Amino acid sequence: MNQSKLIAVIGGTGSVGRYVVSYALQKGYQVRMLARSVRSMQLPPEMAAQLSIVEGDALRFDSLRDLMQGCSAVINTFGRPPQEEPLYSKVTRQVLEEMERADIKRYIGVTGLSLKLQGDHKSIGGRVMSRMLRSLHPQFAQDRLEELKVLQASAIEWTLVRLPVVKEGQGGCSIKANLDKMPGNRIYNGDVARFLVNQIEEDEYIHRCPFIGS
Ligand SMILES: NC(=O)c1ccc[n+]([C@@H]2O[C@H](COP(=O)([O-])OP(=O)(O)OC[C@H]3O[C@@H](n4cnc5c(N)ncnc54)[C@H](OP(=O)(O)O)[C@@H]3O)[C@@H](O)[C@H]2O)c1
Repeated sequence: MNQSKLIAVIGGTGSVGRYVVSYALQKGYQVRMLARSVRSMQLPPEMAAQLSIVEGDALRFDSLRDLMQGCSAVINTFGRPPQEEPLYSKVTRQVLEEMERADIKRYIGVTGLSLKLQGDHKSIGGRVMSRMLRSLHPQFAQDRLEELKVLQASAIEWTLVRLPVVKEGQGGCSIKANLDKMPGNRIYNGDVARFLVNQIEEDEYIHRCPFIGS
């Protein structure tokens, strides 16, 4: 891996992404995040000095290029309201293209429980939830599947984390991860952030889609 401690974050103004930025800074990474409009983030001054913001849009190649230059990894928590066009596969395809151009090998992204893989052994509750999400938002579920195909076709070292319902808060419980079963129905933002950021230096889930829970 490119040894720079600079990482790129997409979706860093969102519920999960804000915790990702803050935890990555705490862990000693320098963070460059993409934001459609620059808002103040409440960070201690020593952490704020390690954060830079690129104003732009994840749908624009020039924004992604400015975001990624010199980074060693990308964490993507881009999200869309369910009533809008999903765009996950489109954004991820563009991100991977720019990563290859910038010679960045490591990608960590998130997806939802609608993503069903061969070999999954979800509980009955998990299967019902997953089926319900697919039938409520079929376009989203289809696009999430397409996003996985985009990742699988790339040469990037990706991890796509399957999130249950994410609750506001730091959490702090032990984080459980499992490749074929949901280890919990809920998780806190802070725990999601810890798991995602820790993946930068872990290789256990490269080319995998772990479920996490706490
Ligand atoms: N929260 C949950 O319970 C849950 C459960 C399962 C999976 N997930 C997945 O986890 C991800 C993050 O969820 P979240 O709750 O943190 O979502 P969120 O609060 O809606 O945050 C979405 C982020 O994406 C950014 N974004 C949207 N369109 C963009 C664009 N065109 N260019 C640049 N940035 C853009 C938003 O920026 P702005 O601030 O500019 O809008 C925001 O930072 C999503 O993919 C979601 O589907 C969430």
